[in-house]
Amino acid sequence: MTKLPVDSLTKEQAVHELERLAREISENRRAYFEEDAPTLSDAEYDALERRNRLIEQRFPALVRTDSPSTSVGSAASTKFTKITHQVSMLSLDNAFNDGDVADFLGRAQRFLGFEDQSALACTAEPKIDGLSLSVRYEKGQLKHAVTRGDGKEGEDVTANVLTIGDIPRQLDGEGWPEILEVRGEVYLSHAAFEALNQAQTEAGLPLYANPRNAAAGSLRQLDPAITAQRPLSFYAYAWGEVSSPFATTQMGAVASFARWGFKTNADMKLCADTAGLLAHYQDLGLRRAELGYDIDGVVYKVNDLALQARLGIVTRFPRWAIAHKFPPERAITILDAIDIQVGRTGALTPVARVRPVTVGGVVVSNATLHNEDFIAGIALDRVTGQPVRGGKDLRIGDHIVIQRAGDVIPQIVDILVDKREASSEPFAFPKVCPCPLQTPAIRGGDDLGGDLDVVRRCTGEFACPFQRLRHLELFVSRKAFDIDGLGPRQLQDFFDWGLVKEPADIFKLGDHRALLEGRDGYGQTSLNNLFAAIDQRRDIDLARFIFGLGVRHVGETTSGVLARAFGSWTAFKAAIDLAQDQRANEAYRQLEAMQGLGPRALEVLLDWAANAEMPQQSSLFDDVAENLAKLRLSEVAMPARKALIQVFPDWADLVSTLKSAAAGRPREDYISLAAIDGMGPVACDALLDFFAEPHNRDAVNRLLEQVRPRDAEAPVSDSPVTGLTIVFTGSLETMTRDEAKAQAIRLGAKVAGSVSAKTDIVVAGPGAGSKLAKASELGVRVMTEAEWAAFVS
Ligand code: IVH
Repeated sequence: MTKLPVDSLTKEQAVHELERLAREISENRRAYFEEDAPTLSDAEYDALERRNRLIEQRFPALVRTDSPSTSVGSAASTKFTKITHQVSMLSLDNAFNDGDVADFLGRAQRFLGFEDQSALACTAEPKIDGLSLSVRYEKGQLKHAVTRGDGKEGEDVTANVLTIGDIPRQLDGEGWPEILEVRGEVYLSHAAFEALNQAQTEAGLPLYANPRNAAAGSLRQLDPAITAQRPLSFYAYAWGEVSSPFATTQMGAVASFARWGFKTNADMKLCADTAGLLAHYQDLGLRRAELGYDIDGVVYKVNDLALQARLGIVTRFPRWAIAHKFPPERAITILDAIDIQVGRTGALTPVARVRPVTVGGVVVSNATLHNEDFIAGIALDRVTGQPVRGGKDLRIGDHIVIQRAGDVIPQIVDILVDKREASSEPFAFPKVCPCPLQTPAIRGGDDLGGDLDVVRRCTGEFACPFQRLRHLELFVSRKAFDIDGLGPRQLQDFFDWGLVKEPADIFKLGDHRALLEGRDGYGQTSLNNLFAAIDQRRDIDLARFIFGLGVRHVGETTSGVLARAFGSWTAFKAAIDLAQDQRANEAYRQLEAMQGLGPRALEVLLDWAANAEMPQQSSLFDDVAENLAKLRLSEVAMPARKALIQVFPDWADLVSTLKSAAAGRPREDYISLAAIDGMGPVACDALLDFFAEPHNRDAVNRLLEQVRPRDAEAPVSDSPVTGLTIVFTGSLETMTRDEAKAQAIRLGAKVAGSVSAKTDIVVAGPGAGSKLAKASELGVRVMTEAEWAAFVS
């Protein structure tokens, strides 16, 4: 069929042509990528794409939604398939200064047994801040493209890579090995990054923090049509599997890539020695801002490939290459203000507002301040152990040195004290919450004579409007209830209008329709959508429900662990109620938290104290050290004794605390809850604290009137134990006690913590004590674990 020239097509003809081209191109793509059996030559295929593009340019209004120019046709998979790298994708060792670079060359030279470094010419090229990619060609045809992944196995992103113009589908020229994996960096230019963020803004979508994240997000889109709209670039600089050698030097290899149709970096240079490498490093450092894309250093590679092969690799790094990183970028600006934000748990977090300044191409106006001690200059640097900024305190109006390294929030690393006004005053960290209630904010932790908590917390808890709002924000967040159309802004509105004070209120918003309708941003349709989204969540995953409660230390992972361990809200809540009064008492917890006093020493001391007499009266001679020594408890070694002496100057005091702790040791149900794999005592205590508060319990109960946490497995109503009350005691062998309890509850039984006349069955494992005795006294049926398993199966 002869084709009409694009210029002479009528509109009707164009519609038909575009439809035909869309079909043909997509059939060919399927034949090429999915069936491995192309029906057209590449030139013919390219001609189809070109004709399609030309018609679209002439008739922009006719561009189809399934246009081959914005999509690659193949159906979006829900997940990327994994592909194993035939040759691992290595990472690079880092050099941070000139000395490290000289060491690198020295090591290579010694390894090869060379007298000097003159024979070790190296290439120097920009280290692009993107993500590495391996593209496989067989007989010159692109087969697949794989991300680095863990270096051994990456994700198949072929469909997306086909939209990258810098990566040829068919290699140009000749001389390429039959199998060739070309590796390089996928990145977004500054211009493309800005355009993308502009488009995100217009669409009301979140912005990307930097070009690297944006490139990664774009390459890993499930819909290639989206990737196609983002002009990703690619520089080829390395290779993986090759069926035959194709070059003898690094320079030569990269020159081959260029001949075969890849973009290669014009700033790659061959250098004879260390001085040459460092000169190129300096030069690139100066030109960094003008390159048009992000680089974070310069990569040096031994040029001779035979030497590369001899040098080989050490674990994850080649011995023949190194990345010379640029120091983090810094700028000087002025500290305009210190804002205090209140977190969900009441933590007062200071944030620096600085006069906007460009640091390495990014405008910075906020910096982290960590905490009160950081501002005062008394916090210790994590690396050096010395006070931050040489101990200088930070004042509003100060000239400060700000540093940005990678993605992290900018840091204040120094103060120019000379420029400080004589009238400036140290920053007074607020001692009250910035909310309207101005509740006292305190730093805990000094009751053991130890250090103060670094964090100052508002004591208002549920009364504090800021904490409530943060709680609500967590509740509706993506990992919790994930309510569409209900974000921080809407919550703030509903909170301000007095409609939502706690999670349960969200599910009663429908009652306030009349009040809401017509308010700015709340039209008919958006309210309908909002109420529908809320209703959808009345049935909710148990894990999301638990996470949404916002219990301290109970994050997404722990919530998942708990949901799996208990299967249902009823079982979970029953375990908490059982554990609640089996917790250690205050005295025990105080001793347990003491530095220097290990669990074994504590046990020994408590065993002793349980039967000890209270000392009559303490006197000066009743020395704690002496008395401890007299006990001759070999397990209570010097560090433990020192710790005790420090906290308890008085012997009578120590004995009474020990006695009280001995009586208040944690018991079975608490221990088994805390022992759930993936939870630990901190989260366990936080959970129990949360449910010990009546206002928390009430709020949860009100929420349970509105939503139903979905059971992992629904309870059975006709098992042999339905309706019976079971007590587990002693240790179990085939399952944990919590699994056993969860199973019993799933089977419709009730689980109790102590034996009474109402108990139907006691399941006793080895080590069972008083509960077993009580059972025989009351004539309650007792089973072994094996008998129980047989009984319920
Ligand atoms: S060579 C075996 N050259 O840096 C050597 N890597 O920190 C393989 N990178 O994973 C890497 N620009 O993603 C090489 N010009 C360049 C590079 C470069 C950026 C990345 C690459 C690698 C990472 C290691």
